[in-house]
Amino acid sequence: MINKIKEKTEQYFPDTQAIRHHIHSHPELSFQEYETAAFISGKLSDMGIEHQTGVAGTGIVALIKGKNPGKKCIALRADMDALPIQEANDVAYRSQNDGVMHACGHDVHSTCLLGAARILNELKDEFEGTIKLIFQPGEEKHPGGASLMIAAGVLEHPKPEAIFALHVYPHLPSGTAGFRAGQYMASADEIYITIEGKGGHAALPHQTIDPIAIAAQVITALQQVISRKSNPLIPSVLTFGKIAGGFATNVIPDRVEILGTFRTMDETWRYEAHKWIKDITEQVCTSFGATAMVEIPKGYPSLYNDPHVTTQAESWARDFIGAQNIHTLDLRMAAEDFSFYTHHAPGCFFRIGTSKNGEAFTAPVHNAKFDIDEEALKTGVGLMVWTAVNALKA
Ligand code: NI
Repeated sequence: MINKIKEKTEQYFPDTQAIRHHIHSHPELSFQEYETAAFISGKLSDMGIEHQTGVAGTGIVALIKGKNPGKKCIALRADMDALPIQEANDVAYRSQNDGVMHACGHDVHSTCLLGAARILNELKDEFEGTIKLIFQPGEEKHPGGASLMIAAGVLEHPKPEAIFALHVYPHLPSGTAGFRAGQYMASADEIYITIEGKGGHAALPHQTIDPIAIAAQVITALQQVISRKSNPLIPSVLTFGKIAGGFATNVIPDRVEILGTFRTMDETWRYEAHKWIKDITEQVCTSFGATAMVEIPKGYPSLYNDPHVTTQAESWARDFIGAQNIHTLDLRMAAEDFSFYTHHAPGCFFRIGTSKNGEAFTAPVHNAKFDIDEEALKTGVGLMVWTAVNALKA
């Protein structure tokens, strides 16, 4: 089976590259993936794969039924959206949409899933069960396309017993893959604080309630959530990326806004921390006579790779690309909306290396120079097929 998959992956490689070039050169922002979805739907139709479009907006769900399709279902997921970045690569397939770029490799993820769909569809007499393919919108933007796809029922009828996704990873060379069982990526919640004081003349501070001075106290006090309230064994980050208020050297403003992000790896602590952030902000403000508005809309949960499924996927990958090409991933404080699926079904989110020997294609994701060594497409397509076939038997 491995050889058959590798032969087909090689044989279809020019088509796979062409698909990637098309998607890469026509990037669309989160929840606006209309052309991308139409393109993917067209390819699935060409292959004769039954699928539903317009799921949660631009999402697509396809089913490939093997023998005895009711026996077991597993799911493979790709995201389709691009980022508001102007591409700085000078390549034939560069973005044709000004200010929009596939800088997080979601073009690669969609391409690998389409490539896998073609091969799995050709091999469907050789496995039992059903493979569900999920092409989702809006990974990069809250509330996350994954949460909307789940709300639309993609994890039902049939219900997948395991779900897998890959992500590009320029820190590793093409031909390799990275895994981490258990906790892998952080939850990410945005924080919006408004401190309402009382403006006035800078020379008459006693007649004002200075929200700038109070904001400084709030920011300093909130770091105690990390240094004194957080269990040091649980990674947590609290960063404020924006503080806005005031107009001039001699005017005390009415209000200050502070925007930030809180990330951690533990769902219980996540909500405890939200409460601390609210309470400390409100109490510091109250003690100086100001009022505080704190909003922490629910972001992505932490990403938990099911240990059993992930250990299995890693061992299948070892058989497919060789033990020397398998890496253990470090914890990562970035977030990824695949995490929503992992809170509903056992999941494995793994990485495929995309640099060329660590020398070319090394720009990080979300960078205007990000691109991949396309040899990685073979690893991505092959591993998706091989993982799906094995997961149905597991
Ligand atoms: Ni991404």
